[in-house]
Amino acid sequence: MSKAVILVTRKLPAAVEARLSRDYSPIFNPEDRRYSTDELLQKSEGTDAMLPCHTENLSSEVIEKLPDSVKAIANFSVGVDHCDLNAAKKKGIIVTNTPDVLTDATAEIAMLCLLGAARRAGEGERLIRERKWNTWSPDFMVGTQVTGKRIGIIGMGRVGQITARRARGFDMQVHYYNRRRLPEALEQGAVFHESLSTLLPISDFLALHCPSTPETQDLVNEALIAQLPKGAILVNTARGNVIDEDALINALRSGRLRAAGLDVYKNEPAIREEFSQLENLFALPHVGSATHETRDAMGFRALDNLDAIFSGREPKDRVA
Ligand code: DGY
Repeated sequence: MSKAVILVTRKLPAAVEARLSRDYSPIFNPEDRRYSTDELLQKSEGTDAMLPCHTENLSSEVIEKLPDSVKAIANFSVGVDHCDLNAAKKKGIIVTNTPDVLTDATAEIAMLCLLGAARRAGEGERLIRERKWNTWSPDFMVGTQVTGKRIGIIGMGRVGQITARRARGFDMQVHYYNRRRLPEALEQGAVFHESLSTLLPISDFLALHCPSTPETQDLVNEALIAQLPKGAILVNTARGNVIDEDALINALRSGRLRAAGLDVYKNEPAIREEFSQLENLFALPHVGSATHETRDAMGFRALDNLDAIFSGREPKDRVA
């Protein structure tokens, strides 16, 4: 039997590409160039499935134009906001993602963003690298202590729960808002808030771990920021769409927010110019899942899903 043809939109870890070559007929992207929509559609001709990343725009218009031969979209990502699930369902395309395997790596980056913002790590790094460090005084580079503070978590799914666990390592008091309250065993002492209106005023730090959906679009706006304590610190490792970036920039400029730690932005990688000018922003380029261990695991998980689909089994991580 001939092997299924898989369009692999980005360069994947060597071990993942080796398994793809062994089990499928992959079309690789060795230059790792981000394809335009036209190229993506052109390259999909004659393929049986696609293995894309969150960098691919799989809107309803694009999905509708995919050739009928495409039976599955096995995402190399946990987030699926780049992919219109309803359009895929309508076209009979199975869609999967890669949950679980990037939880620890993303929670690490959430803590890095939290600490980096609180302790002014970006500013310190810039001073050293630009050879501008020329003093020490009791007033020099004074930041905000993390230990013992309250962290409010919006979205207590996998990453939210592990971030809570890591925050507890800093003796932080964990509060959270989630669509549903977690069972006590998973809460681990975290305080559930039925509404943001009680969570926000007590959040010295606010960490976003909710998916990007129409409901969470621009969730963090001027009105939400106004409910946080003055000088609160915002952390986002979820998706850029969750924040109204004008409101964030204004709040960082005015000091309404003391600092922010961001790994994700609305228009990646062409992010707002203002972000490179705000001293109180600790900023990373969407590297939440960027460890060798996690990227291998994401690839293998996507392949496990493809294996299931092409052997007629239900894939473990089906989202559409
Ligand atoms: C994810 O998996 O959603 C990460 O953001 C990387 O794509």
